[in-house]
Amino acid sequence: MYIKGKAPFKIKVVEPIKWNTRAKREQIIRDAHYCFAYVPAEEIPINLLTDSGTSAMSQEQWAGMMRGDESYYGARNWYNFEKAVQDYTGFKYVLPAHQGRAAEHVVCRALIKKPGGTAYANAHFGTTEAHVRLLGANPVNLPVPEALDPEVPADFKGNINLEAFKKAIKEKGEDNIPFLNMVLVNNFTAGQPVSMANLKEASKLARENGIKVVVDAARVPENAFFIKEREAGYGNKSIREICNEIFSYADVMHMSAKKSALVNIGGFVATDDESLYEEMGQWLIMFDGFITYGGLSGRDLEAVAIGLSEGLDYDYLAHRVGQVEYLGNLLRERGVPIYEPTGGHGVYVNGEKVYPHIPKEEFAAHALSVETFIESGVYAAENPSSLGWSRTDPETGKYTPPPFELLRFAIPRRVYTDSQLEYTADGVKAAMDKGKQVKGFRFIWKPDNEFLRIFYYKLERL
Ligand SMILES: Cc1ncc(COP(=O)(O)O)c(C=O)c1O
Repeated sequence: MYIKGKAPFKIKVVEPIKWNTRAKREQIIRDAHYCFAYVPAEEIPINLLTDSGTSAMSQEQWAGMMRGDESYYGARNWYNFEKAVQDYTGFKYVLPAHQGRAAEHVVCRALIKKPGGTAYANAHFGTTEAHVRLLGANPVNLPVPEALDPEVPADFKGNINLEAFKKAIKEKGEDNIPFLNMVLVNNFTAGQPVSMANLKEASKLARENGIKVVVDAARVPENAFFIKEREAGYGNKSIREICNEIFSYADVMHMSAKKSALVNIGGFVATDDESLYEEMGQWLIMFDGFITYGGLSGRDLEAVAIGLSEGLDYDYLAHRVGQVEYLGNLLRERGVPIYEPTGGHGVYVNGEKVYPHIPKEEFAAHALSVETFIESGVYAAENPSSLGWSRTDPETGKYTPPPFELLRFAIPRRVYTDSQLEYTADGVKAAMDKGKQVKGFRFIWKPDNEFLRIFYYKLERL
């Protein structure tokens, strides 16, 4: 149970934040064409855009950065990094990368050998989806039915639909499936965890059919925490043991270290497959950096090596996941409709329920984001919602919005206090109470690649 105030750390270094008036915030977001990518971050006092690269590092990590060895080949920090990743994953071969998408890039390059195939997932993250498409394959999500209902509480709504995966293997044939991608926790379905049983069964199905299993490990420690708390047989296992078991069901894993490794930049790939490692390494050198630094400096490698272990600490995770639940409770108390239950890294508010008068194509979740910012200075980003996550099928030309209009309040690790979360909940409530006076938006400019609309666009108010 989350005990408010019982954080396993205290604040040593303080970063000042600036507060504007409501009128100034209204002007700032209007001038930015209602796109926060154009707003200077210092104008956003409580920034819940993402939990990626936004963590506060520990004194050990900062001290480790001073031990950075900036040699080109084989810096001493590389060996610490390699050992930390080996201990976390159980895999022998490790490649560093500058962030998650660079890691995904080498995995996708090595596994997608021909165009036309279909890569299945519980739900691909946007960058994976983009890489799969770039290589001429089709990314398909197979979430469990309950994941698509924000109101049904269930323990493992991040699971893959095993029956649908079985059917897909039969229909497509294993030669046309370059890999199965399991994302833990599942970012697309509100940060919900995957059960060990589901991962094990999905992996078994894939491997029996000669399909490689990839684990997207951006937030595996949070997922391991949920397994320990909720799944029979794991209560007495350590988080590290659970992570090791998770990776035993994968042929290759990649991770954006910017999340659960508590750093501001970094990523990696690990596998036991020597030939896959050799191939990925060659792609890495061309696009990211040599196989002992992968686009990172020696000091960055050290920060990951230390942060990876800190991110597996049970007390830290109980506080982290507890803070997410705490914000969820504050919103529930204020009558704000959220995706149930709360997940591993943020609270997702149901924009369609908050503003039922705004149709999908006018972006209700984004409207709530804008109003929350104007009312309070708190920023959260729509994820997933029709603004950045609608897709046109390349074969049929059919335009499909995602199943949700969610606004994600992602919680950076070790950054905000409980009272800042209380302030956040009040800001959302104030935005919700504006009701029907809130209008939707339409595009005045958008990037051609639909996937990039997650990041930037220009809008005007209707
Ligand atoms: C599940 C998941 N995978 C991969 C990535 C990509 O990582 P990065 O932003 O470090 O490139 C993200 C980023 O948010 C993510 O959430």
